[in-house]
Amino acid sequence: MANPQALVTFVGVQKTYDGTTLVVPDLNLEIQRGEFLTLLGPSGSGKTTCLMMLAGFESPTAGEILLDGQPTSRTPPHKRNFGVVFQNYALFPHLTIAQNVAYPLTVRKVGKDECARLVARALNMVRLEGLDARYPGQLSGGQQQRVALARALVFDPQLVLMDEPLGALDKQLREHMQIELKELHRKLGVTFVYVTHDQGEAPTARRFAARSRKACCAVIGCGRSACAAAATPPTISTGRSRRASPWCRPTRSGTSRSRR
Ligand SMILES: Nc1ncnc2c1ncn2[C@@H]1O[C@H](COP(=O)(O)OP(=O)(O)O)[C@@H](O)[C@H]1O
Ligand SMILES: [Mg+2]
Repeated sequence: MANPQALVTFVGVQKTYDGTTLVVPDLNLEIQRGEFLTLLGPSGSGKTTCLMMLAGFESPTAGEILLDGQPTSRTPPHKRNFGVVFQNYALFPHLTIAQNVAYPLTVRKVGKDECARLVARALNMVRLEGLDARYPGQLSGGQQQRVALARALVFDPQLVLMDEPLGALDKQLREHMQIELKELHRKLGVTFVYVTHDQGEAPTARRFAARSRKACCAVIGCGRSACAAAATPPTISTGRSRRASPWCRPTRSGTSRSRR
C-alpha cells in the first residue's frame, strides 16, 4: 500500500529496453516531499533509466510510478512540473544565458515581464547575476552548471531531478557545488533527487543524510539479498543481486537507505 504522504512512489517498477535484460529489475522507493534524495549506484545500474521514467521520457515495462498517490503513466513530461539537470548541462549554445533560463517559461507561455522577473530571480539564486547576456561558450564549467540549475528551478518545479550534475566539474568545484546545492535545497524546500555513480560523493551524502531529517541516501543496483546484511531493513530494493559489489557492503550506518 503506497504511503499517501510520499510525493513519489515507485511500486515494483521494472524496465527492459530489449525485452530480455531487466535494466531495472524491481524498484520500490518512496520520495518524500521536500527531501534531498541521493541515489548512488555504479555505471549501468539503471540510474538514468529510473530518472527518465520518473520524468516521463521512458515508460516502465511493469509496475507503476505514483505522483501524489496517483499513477503517472498517462501524464506527459511537461505536465509533471519537474526540473531536470543533465550531466552535460544540455544548454542551447546559440541562446544567451537569460534565454536559456527563460526557455521553460517560454514553453509555458509566461508573459514577458513576469519572465524577466523569474529569470532574474533564478540567476540570483545560483549567483549568476550580470552574466545574462553571455552565451554558454563564454562561461566556465561551474557557471554553465549553475545555468542548467537555474533553468531547472525557474518555473518553481515540485521536483528537481539531477543526473550526475557535477560529473564534468573538477573535484574542488564539485565539492563546492555539492554544498551549494544542499544550501539551495534548504532555502527553497523543493524536492531534489540527485543521482551519482561517484562513490566519493557517498560519504558526503551519508553525512548529510545523517545530519538532516530532510535528506536521504539510497543505493541502487543492490539486491535484497545483499542488503539483508544491513542492520536496518532497507526501504529501497531493486531486486538485483550484486553480492560482490562494493556498493552493497553495509555501511557504518548499516543501511542501504540512510536517514536520521
Ligand atoms: N535507450 C536505451 N536503449 C537500450 N538500452 C539502454 C538505453 N538506455 C540505457 N540502456 C541500457 O540500460 C542500462 C542502464 O543504463 P542507465 O540507466 O543509463 O544506467 P546508469 O545511468 O546507472 O549508468 C545500460 O546497460 C544501458 O546500456
Ligand atoms: Mg546515467
